[in-house]
Order: sequence, then C-alpha cells, then structure tokens
Amino acid sequence: MKDSVVPTEQYVIRGGVPLQGEVEIGGAKNAALAILAAAIMTDETVTIENMPDVRDTNVLLEAMGGIGVRIERLDRHTVRINGAMVQNVNIEYELIKKIRASYYLIGALLGKYKEAEVPLPGGCNIGSRPIDQHLKGFRAIGAEVKISHGSIIAHAKRLIGAHIYMDVVTVGATINIMMASCMAEGKTIIENAAKEPHVVDVANFLNSMGANIKGAGTDIIRIKGVSRLHSATYSIIPDQIEAGTFMFAAAASRGNLLVKNVIPKHLESITAKLIEIGCDVEEFDDSVRVSRTGELKSTQIKTLPYPGFPTDMQPQAGVVLALSEGVSTITESIFENRFRYVDEIIRMGANIRVKGNTAIFTGVSSLTGARLTSPDLRAGAALVLAALSADGVSVIDDIYLIERGYEDFEVKLKKVGARIERVSSEKEIRKFILQTEAVS
Ligand code: EPZ
Repeated sequence: MKDSVVPTEQYVIRGGVPLQGEVEIGGAKNAALAILAAAIMTDETVTIENMPDVRDTNVLLEAMGGIGVRIERLDRHTVRINGAMVQNVNIEYELIKKIRASYYLIGALLGKYKEAEVPLPGGCNIGSRPIDQHLKGFRAIGAEVKISHGSIIAHAKRLIGAHIYMDVVTVGATINIMMASCMAEGKTIIENAAKEPHVVDVANFLNSMGANIKGAGTDIIRIKGVSRLHSATYSIIPDQIEAGTFMFAAAASRGNLLVKNVIPKHLESITAKLIEIGCDVEEFDDSVRVSRTGELKSTQIKTLPYPGFPTDMQPQAGVVLALSEGVSTITESIFENRFRYVDEIIRMGANIRVKGNTAIFTGVSSLTGARLTSPDLRAGAALVLAALSADGVSVIDDIYLIERGYEDFEVKLKKVGARIERVSSEKEIRKFILQTEAVS
C-alpha cells in the first residue's frame, strides 16, 4: 500500500450459519515480524518458511527492502532474506506508521552494527504502547540511546552483556533485547522475561543462526554473546491467536470446527475458557476440534501474559460472553484501550457496561446485523464473529485493519460455510443481500 489512502474494502456478512468443517492456521504474525527483522543480523542468506502473507509482514518486508535488504519472495509463505548490504537505517516514517513492529529493526541493527536509527513507532489504537523497557535494555548493554526528531538513535562502541530486570512483562522488549545482545561480549540475563510462544520462536530462530540463548519460555533468559550469526532455514510456528479466533468463531456460530496446524499447548488458556462456558474441545497432535451445541454459560476472564488468557483474544471472547447466559466479566490488564469493540456490538443488541479496565456482559440470546467499523485488528476480528452469529446482514468497514493479521480471513470462513464477501461498493452489498436472501 504505497500511498496513505485508507483502503475502502468491506466485509458483508449474513449471519446465522453454524461454521462447520476444517480450517488451516497460518504462521504466527507476531513471531514472523521479529524473525524477519532478526534475519538481517547475518550477512548470509536466510530462508523463512510458513510466513503469514498479511499486511503487517508485507509492510515490514517493504520497509526492509527500502533500506537495502535483498528480499526474494519464493511464494506467499516463503521468503529469502540477505542483510549484507544494510547499513544505517532510515526507514520512511510512512511505513513505520503502518506497523509498530518495525521497532524490532532497532534491536537487530544495534546487535549487528552497534548502531541504528529508526523513526519512533506511532501510538496504537489499543493503548499508549511505551518503549521504555526496550531502551532500558539497550542502555544496559552499553548503547547510548536518544530520541530526536521523532527517531530513536542508538549506538555503542562495545555491546557488553548485562543483568537486566524487566519492570513489566513485555514481549517486544524481551525480543528486542535478545536480538541486541546475542552478539554482545559476555552474558546477558533477562529477568521477568515474556514467555509467549513467539518469544520462544524468535529465540529458536536466533539459535538456528548460531546464537546461544537458553531459557526462552521461562521468565529468565540467558544469552551468551557469539561473534557472528550464519545462514539458516526456519519455519515459523502456527499462529496461536488466529487459531483462537477460529475456536471462538465456532462458539459464536454454534458450529463445529476442526482447527488444523496448531500447537495445542499454546492454546491451553483458550481451550480452558471455551470448556468453562460449555463448548466441547477435543485436542489432537496438531489440531483441535471445537463444537458448541447448547446455550453458553457465563465466566470471568482476566487477560495476562502467557500462559494466561491472551489480550489478543479478549475482543473475540467478549463477543461470545455477550451471547452467554448470565453475567460475565472481562478484565483487560495489559492494554488500556482494548474495549473499542463494545460500542459496536452494543449497536447489535449486546448488553455490556465498561467500568475502567473491566467490561460487564449481561448475556442476550442473539445479536442483530448492523453497519460496523473495525476499531483495530483484534476488535475487527471480533466484529466478524459477532456478525457471523447475528440475525441478518452486517457490513464491516476498515477491514484493512483486520487484514493486518489475518490471511484470507473471508476465504477461510467461506470454506466452513460462512456467508461472507469482501466488497468495495454498495452495489456489491446489495447484490450479496439479494443472493443470500434467496437461500436463507
Ligand atoms: C506484542 O505487542 C504483540 N505485537 C501484541 O499483539 C500483543 O498484544 C502484545 O505483545 C502482548 O502480548 C507484536 O508482537 C507485534 P508488550 P508489544 O510489550 O510487544 C507495556 C496483535 O493484536 N510496556 O508485551 O508491543 C505495554 O504498555 C498485537 O497482534 C511498557 O510499559 O506488547 C503493555 O501494557 C496487539 N514498556 C505491556 O507492557 C515497554 O517498553 C505489554 O506490552 C513495553 C511495553
């Protein structure tokens, strides 16, 4: 997306169809973004497989191409990267505005070249998104870091391992410090580290390039600096949040879905909540089956760092609790503005009150279709789930936000029975309404 014109595509959905069948999950967006950045830490060629073909990864690849990284796209999900030609970073601010995760280039470039200059990521619509812990880690290993003219400028004569205690559990800072310190002199210890599956995936990727990182997935990560990193071929883990979104879609639509290419262990907190509200969940080696037949029961959810219930699943869970008998609550403990979907589904008939960082849901038997606007990536996905469960037709605007993190979302949903089209005109919406009226 070269210019800054906001895409106008929409989803039009006629709800009421229980989703049934099989859905294949793609590679984890939040692992891919860090791994693509880390791939430039060697001058040799790195091959990344099972990369999700979504807006965020494509924008990051475009930004990397713009600073001299050689990128060869073998297919939608496989890319070959060579960072030999990269020097100082001066990514166009426009691209940074589209994707916060370009801040991973700071850790990668600082770790490789001992210097980096990257525009500060903008705010995000789910909260303020500070990066103080990233800067704390870079400074701890010897970098001078300043913010000037909207950019972060970091450089170090030497990078020397340090013992860093994170003040908050933060995925981004944990990953960025791992990258910045993997070729520092001596040992770095990160205490109170994030344990998300994508943190482990980035550590495994760096180790496949010759890094020496131990303890990823626990709250203490130990990194022994190595002199250089080498080529590798690496396949990204399945996306825990895409999988969870389809699991909750089965619950919202009274469906029965086999969600394939997953790591069930990564989904444990999601599975536990679905069982608690009355769904059946069956686990296999690399798939889970979620089905819902009866009425859903209420529950309480509090979002927490992994292995707790993921904040990225909070809006999707909110839609289902809006349809669960009784009173449920969700407490959002990670971000301060992640209930933006609530006003939208209240317009569909939901009964929800938000007080501070807690939402109180009084279940209703059904929702009705409406004109909706996607507030952000996961809230947008939640609106799709609401529309799939609702009586009648919904139209969702700003779906480019959803396409940041979901590949072929409407294609995958159609394959399991959803009546959904990706449109860009009122004419197409009217055609869809007539066509689906006939069969409903
Ligand atoms: C990552 O964001 C994900 N994004 C987010 O997913 C996810 O919600 C989040 O982790 C939590 O799991 C990517 O991986 C690209 P954090 P990140 O640093 O790293 C505070 C999605 O939908 N904090 O773990 O930015 C922060 O304010 C996106 O795919 C500091 O105070 O999240 C928040 O309260 C949305 N100082 C908490 O930590 C810092 O320096 C967790 O943030 C950094 C973070």
